Formats: sequence, structure tokens, C-alpha cells
Amino acid sequence: MDYIKVFAPATVANVACGFDIFGFAVDNPGDIVEIKRKPEPGIEIEAIYGDEGRLPLDAGRNAVTVVMLHLLGHLGISDFGASVILHKNMPLGSGMGSSAASSVAGVVALNEMLGRPLSRKELLPFAMQGELMAAGAAHADNVGPSLLGGFLVIRSYKPLDVFNIAVPAELYCTLVHPDVEVNTKDARLILRNEVSLKNAITQMGNVAGLISGLMTGDYGLISRSMVDVIIEPVRAILIPEFNEVKQAAMESGALGCSISGAGPSMFALARTRAEAEGIGEAMKSTFAAAGISSNVFVSGINSEGPRILAAD
Ligand code: HSE
Repeated sequence: MDYIKVFAPATVANVACGFDIFGFAVDNPGDIVEIKRKPEPGIEIEAIYGDEGRLPLDAGRNAVTVVMLHLLGHLGISDFGASVILHKNMPLGSGMGSSAASSVAGVVALNEMLGRPLSRKELLPFAMQGELMAAGAAHADNVGPSLLGGFLVIRSYKPLDVFNIAVPAELYCTLVHPDVEVNTKDARLILRNEVSLKNAITQMGNVAGLISGLMTGDYGLISRSMVDVIIEPVRAILIPEFNEVKQAAMESGALGCSISGAGPSMFALARTRAEAEGIGEAMKSTFAAAGISSNVFVSGINSEGPRILAAD
């Protein structure tokens, strides 16, 4: 294979109560990576589109190629040569798993080009190296669902233990990205290290409730469980109009609404596409009333993960 083009989806990490342990993939947006084989050894970045020139073209400093270098190192391959084109279809620092989608598309594309030496699940630790480079922490709740699709639980990081849970087929997600930037490293630094026993108990109840609600299609339970008493109250201050936008989503029929990943994007879950679209309009107009423009994405939960768009 001399050429491959792979799409990897955006993701919603945390899903309200599951900080660093829950995430799901959406149908759109997503990033696209192209790899073209070249005779000389070494990986270079030929072009990046859609990043407004903000991402490094140095292969050793960009998540999309760092993951490839880790995979080649692990496989003991030193004579592989390729040039890489990255198409960013979502803003950087958006809370939609932007760096994760690039890392996943990159590592899946390379693995396919090499004849698939590793399974998708085995690629996860390599994709996590991209998160370490981009966000300063090797969390898996964006790369995991982007790579494996669906709703993913990271039960443990050491050792890495992840599993998918089934979600209702008619569940829809509204993702709203306001035109403000939140740096993931900063959004992690403001969190407290200690959690009160009272809040831990509430959060554990919600985690258990959300899993059970999703697996059984109990929308009342999903809705009651989409409550985060630990992270959201701290991070909400980074998102202007957070409370108003959340209230607008809930009044429009959302099952729940919270911060997507580290923010500033917010997400809501709904039972139908029409409801999810109405919720998106309400959230967008609430941001707009405060002079903040935003982009709305409505999609189902993406169970497939990365998609090979072309190979030659
Ligand atoms: N779980 C991570 C966080 C995801 O909330 O910091 C970052 O997108």
C-alpha cells in the first residue's frame, strides 16, 4: 500500500459524571489523515489544513506523527518513509477531542499501511502518546472512543482496561462549540486533588446510574444521572454563559447537558434528532444573546470509530 486516507471522529469525554473514565464518539466532525509512502526513511508532515497555521510541522512535536513514531519504534521498523497530510475539521482546544481525532487517524492509517500488525485495541497506548504530547496527560477518554467507537468506559489506567457499553440506537448528541478557547492543561490545573466523601458518593451513584440507564434504555435514569458534582462546578467558570446555556438545553428537552471534555464545547443528549436540533438552536441563541458565536453539530453516537476513506 502506497497511499491511505483515514477519518477519525470527534468525541465527548467525561459525559458529565465520568471524568477521565467515560467518552463517546460522534458521527461528525472528525479529522482526516493522508499518508503517502516515500522511498527515503523518515516521517515528515507535508501539509496541515484547517489549523490556521497553529500546529507544528515538525513530526517530532505534532501528535499526529508522534503516535506514528511510537508505533514504528515499538515494531522496530527504521526504514519506513512517508509524508503526512492532516485535515483539521474541528477547532483546536475545543473540548471535542481534536488532538485525539488526529492521533487516532494517524495511528490507524499507519497500522493499515503496515498490514495491520496491531488490533485497534492494541493501538490505544500509542494513540494516548499523542494526548500526552498535546494535552500534557495521557488520558484515554477521547482517543479511546475515537479509536474504538461507541461509548467507552476506561475502568483502569494502570493497567489499561477499557470496555464498550451499548447505548440506545436513537440517542442523539448536540455539541456546541462557542468561540472561546480553553486550554486543556489549564482546565486540568484548576481542579482540586481532593474530593469530599459526600461528593464521591453522589458521583459514584451517578456513574452507576448512567451506565445502567444507557444499557437498558432507561431515559429517566440517564437524565437523573447526568450530574457532575466534582468537575463541572469548577470548570463552568471557564465557559461564559455556561449556566444559561445549560438551562436553555434542559428547557428544550435535553436528557442532560454538561461540558464536553475540558470545554469550552458543551454537549447535550436527546432522544431524537429533531429534539437534538432544537436543543442546539436554543444553546446557540443563548450564546449569541451574550455576543458569543458558536457552531452546532448534531449527530448520533458513532459505533464504528475510524473509517478508511481511500487506500491504494
Ligand atoms: N478527561 C479529560 C479532561 C478530557 O476533562 O481533562 C480532555 O478532553
